[in-house]
Amino acid sequence: MSATEPWWKSAVVYQIYPRSFCDMTGNGIGDLEGIRRHLDHLQWLGVDAIWISPFFRSPMKDYGYDVSDYCDVDPLFGTLADFDRLLADAHARGLRVVIDWVPNHTSDRHPWFVASRSSRRSAKRDWYIWRDGTPDRPPNNWKGAFIDGPAWTWDHASGQWYLHFFLPEQPDLNWANPEVVAAMHATLRFWLDRGVDGFRMDVIHGLGKPAGLPDHPPELAAVWRCVVNDEPITHDYVRGIRSVIDEYPDRLMLGEVFLLDTARVAPYYGSGDELQLAFNFPPLFAPWNARAWRRAVDSVVSELDPRDAWPTWVLSNHDQPRHRTRYGTEARARAAAVLLLTLRGTPFLYAGEELGLEDAVVPEVRRLDPGGRDGCRAPIPWDAGATHGWAGDRAWLPWPPEAERRNVETLARERTSILHLYRRLLTARRRSSALRLGAWRPIASPDGVLAYARERAEDRRIVLVNFASSPVDARLEGELTVEAASDGAGEGERFRDRLGPDQAVLLRPAIG
Ligand code: NOJ
Repeated sequence: MSATEPWWKSAVVYQIYPRSFCDMTGNGIGDLEGIRRHLDHLQWLGVDAIWISPFFRSPMKDYGYDVSDYCDVDPLFGTLADFDRLLADAHARGLRVVIDWVPNHTSDRHPWFVASRSSRRSAKRDWYIWRDGTPDRPPNNWKGAFIDGPAWTWDHASGQWYLHFFLPEQPDLNWANPEVVAAMHATLRFWLDRGVDGFRMDVIHGLGKPAGLPDHPPELAAVWRCVVNDEPITHDYVRGIRSVIDEYPDRLMLGEVFLLDTARVAPYYGSGDELQLAFNFPPLFAPWNARAWRRAVDSVVSELDPRDAWPTWVLSNHDQPRHRTRYGTEARARAAAVLLLTLRGTPFLYAGEELGLEDAVVPEVRRLDPGGRDGCRAPIPWDAGATHGWAGDRAWLPWPPEAERRNVETLARERTSILHLYRRLLTARRRSSALRLGAWRPIASPDGVLAYARERAEDRRIVLVNFASSPVDARLEGELTVEAASDGAGEGERFRDRLGPDQAVLLRPAIG
């Protein structure tokens, strides 16, 4: 790692959905201790940081993204002492810990909202967004996410509507109120003081609401408000949050900007005074196709480079079908791993992608999430036994397909497995400053192939990704050695100017 560059530029971050990682108590739900017990796996794999999805007190209507106490651990996951132990053990292994902060909304059970709802005269009334009206007609035409209805709920007792971009149990905070800003900043300091290395900030682009809360134009009337909300005032709030983060050395502020256009994500980096990293989801939604990927990469280059903003790359998370499922085959998932771990920027892995997991098939009776996202949240299988290394005999969701083979213990024994491919790619990144921090340059390539160089001083790597399901010739200047291949073929040997179907290779100049 370069001494002058912040850690998060060259880090590979591994996302843990705590309910699904590993259960140590036998209640079928993963917990903080389950994460701590598997830090060895993460260290062996070679990631640099973990991001843990919310583990705070919550009624779990949105599985933790509905927080009722920002400064405590939900008993389902353990205690603050468990968190401190996890943090200390992670740090002892050189792993950074990023936690998830949910600033746009709280749970309706949060004491702030309970007070706000209790009366129009409550001192906390203005901490949320209340509007007059009649019960038959919401204040505007905004749609809530994960529900079939308005982003508003009528409160009978106090006779007003409150706003919620997501479920009715997730009322939006009013960031225009300085008391809310101060209270939320205090929650950041609570965890910063405990020693966390940063935050992933949920729907950060949602914080500011437009003056007068106008209707969406008719063509957008069916679109969830949370995916289009993009108000200039939000940048003030983000700068304020950044100034809290900057009180502490070396901390990361990573924002979830769920606006499906890189040009609209880029401004959230500000002029180095807003987010340090922003998720950029258009590549996650790109099909397995060289042109679509080239377009996605080009827009990252053209939108982020002029701002000196550092890109992020993510293929899977707890909100979308896994890329192994989307792309259809393990061969493609392997090639995608080469792509993800060699583009210029910070890659995010989602727990289980290193096993090539597909989404679980969840029968109707076991479906839980109102947003239909159960499949990608299936539990992680640690071994081939009946409970796959989980304490209880029934996990909260069904196991993903082929768990008897696609589990950590089994794949760790198979040198040719996708798990070992991830490990080799992570090793290759650690060894190459070009891969971690170097420039990105496209290389002319046949149709269906994405080809690029990564360069930093004397260090140089070349990556070829064949998105086609047929072999293709790819001649390159100079003699090159295969450092990693998505199917393992020819590693350590001279590159023979040919790619297999859905194959990706990482090449380095041959020595001597
Ligand atoms: C984005 C999170 O990733 C998702 O899981 C959650 O449902 C919404 N934000 C609301 O917090």
